[in-house]
Amino acid sequence: MVSVEEVTKIFPANRRSLFPSGKAGSVTAVDRVSLSVADNEIVALIGESGCGKTTLGKIMLGIIPASDGKVLFDGHRLEEFTSSGRKEYMDWRRRYQMVFQDPYSSLNPRLTVRQTLAEPFILHTGLDTASVRLKVDELIWAVGLDSGVDSCLPGELSGGQRQRVNIARALACQPRFIVCDEPLATLDASVKSQIVNLLVGIHRQYGVSYLFISHDLPAARYIADRVAVMYRGSLVETAPTELFFNRPRHPYSQILLANSHQRYRDGRLSDPSVPITHQPGSTGCKFAGQCPRAAAVCFSAQPLLIQTEPDSFLACHLPPG
Ligand SMILES: Nc1ncnc2c1ncn2[C@@H]1O[C@H](COP(=O)(O)OP(=O)(O)OP(=O)(O)O)[C@@H](O)[C@H]1O
Ligand SMILES: [Mg+2]
Repeated sequence: MVSVEEVTKIFPANRRSLFPSGKAGSVTAVDRVSLSVADNEIVALIGESGCGKTTLGKIMLGIIPASDGKVLFDGHRLEEFTSSGRKEYMDWRRRYQMVFQDPYSSLNPRLTVRQTLAEPFILHTGLDTASVRLKVDELIWAVGLDSGVDSCLPGELSGGQRQRVNIARALACQPRFIVCDEPLATLDASVKSQIVNLLVGIHRQYGVSYLFISHDLPAARYIADRVAVMYRGSLVETAPTELFFNRPRHPYSQILLANSHQRYRDGRLSDPSVPITHQPGSTGCKFAGQCPRAAAVCFSAQPLLIQTEPDSFLACHLPPG
């Protein structure tokens, strides 16, 4: 349904950059990534902080443009929608949504819950005020919020309630696909499981597909059909969820899972003091410098993501047998 083919995103370097690229003054945040999410599918995108997950999610929704490569919706190029008439554009836009990591900063602090949830209906539908009111009531109910919260401002809500409002807003106009960018990051454990269950329930009831970006590997395992692992801008492995968690194949995936209870919990796997050995544009595997299995070929040629099993892809010169 939504796919990217060989997309690359190069940002001008700024102080947020973790690793200056080989090209002077730029960061290759996404490096020739191909990934698709099918109708009714949930794909978890995992990888350490700064590896390009949010950037890829935004590219998949056309929120930011790719520097290179294609973004396709049902096989049609993104440009067909962005250059179409306003009605066609708005119709496409409402069906592809994003839930952002920080539920507070993504809500307008001056709008009540009801005003926030009414906005998409006003923008995308010709409904009259009474019908919008009913739709907002339905949404509040669908995401398990108390009806009394409708007059609250975001600052008066708990983190979990705010994330429910964000999810409700994304759900408003019958989306087909939602990029959930670390929707659990700011929540405590019990609220996390409530939000995961809410997302699963919405998926089952409305058939919405997700790209579920998360540092929370147990949640990714619970929710996703397929897992995609990103490392410094590149996809290194994609596989069906259970297969992946039982038998991760890329050395980076193996370390990621082994360390998931330790450093990865904070969203960072590599030690920032370890020098970055790979320079985008250079040859060789980006992970070679930290890979326990690296051989000469890993430093001289970049491995391609190739199919290893019916639904599994791996970018490694020396995969385990
Ligand atoms: N607008 C921007 N301008 C310049 N560099 C950017 C911009 N957005 C992201 N980057 C850089 O691109 C790289 C990937 O960032 P991105 O936010 O996509 O990572 P992420 O995997 O989502 O990280 P996290 O897990 O911390 O959210 C980082 O080096 C980041 O500093
Ligand atoms: Mg991010």
